[in-house]
Amino acid sequence: MKSDGSWIEEAARARATVVPSLLASDFANLERELRKLEDGGVKIAHIDVMDGRLVPNISMGVPVVSSIRKVTTLKLDVHLMIVEPERYVEAFRDAGADSISIHIEASPDPVETLNRIRELGAVPGLALDYGAPIEKILPYAKEADILLAMSVPAGFGGQKFRQDALESVRALRAAARPDALVEIDGGIDADTIGLAAKAGANLFVAGTSVFRAADYGAQVSLLKKIALDAVSKRRVI
Ligand code: DX5
Ligand code: ZN
Repeated sequence: MKSDGSWIEEAARARATVVPSLLASDFANLERELRKLEDGGVKIAHIDVMDGRLVPNISMGVPVVSSIRKVTTLKLDVHLMIVEPERYVEAFRDAGADSISIHIEASPDPVETLNRIRELGAVPGLALDYGAPIEKILPYAKEADILLAMSVPAGFGGQKFRQDALESVRALRAAARPDALVEIDGGIDADTIGLAAKAGANLFVAGTSVFRAADYGAQVSLLKKIALDAVSKRRVI
């Protein structure tokens, strides 16, 4: 599959991009959910892959990504919460993933896998679970185009945002290449997105707060506005 990383550059320019997590969507009506996101102006959807080993839950796998790919033009940001991710990156790329993030806890020496993801034409991401030691990821921070900080323990949607995850966001932003995206994942809503933006995140995964809303597009726009306001230089007197 041909690589096209321009969407990542566009996201970096946008300063704040809300990425709905399909984990909170209606799985029985995925195509309808995707259409509502597209109609609402969303450009990227987040897909959580869990294996019941790295995290205590099982979600969706390659065939679901493949089915989603057939019915949407959205970029697919695939978050692999699985052990031995190197065994599966090719299958997920073939299924249509545009970016693939692996966890440092599953890949203590991730360079080869990140390079493989890039070779396959996808954007490589490196993720840190909430509560995992930041020192492990820092040496590899410049190898990834996306650095993902979990702001809840990985495994379930709908958890409460952990404010101390903002320290990881700050540290990842400081260690990242300037063109890299810092993604935050877990408990992002109207009350927390501004804090995450100020800490240096520019990609905001939001599951429950988007799919619980009556109008997904309006909710995404609201979240984006709050994030941009939080980082704007303007001061309202
Ligand atoms: C949790 C997942 C998240 C989850 C976020 O392990 O990585 O992407 O879907 O869901 P909310 O926004 O509901 O916390
Ligand atoms: Zn996720």
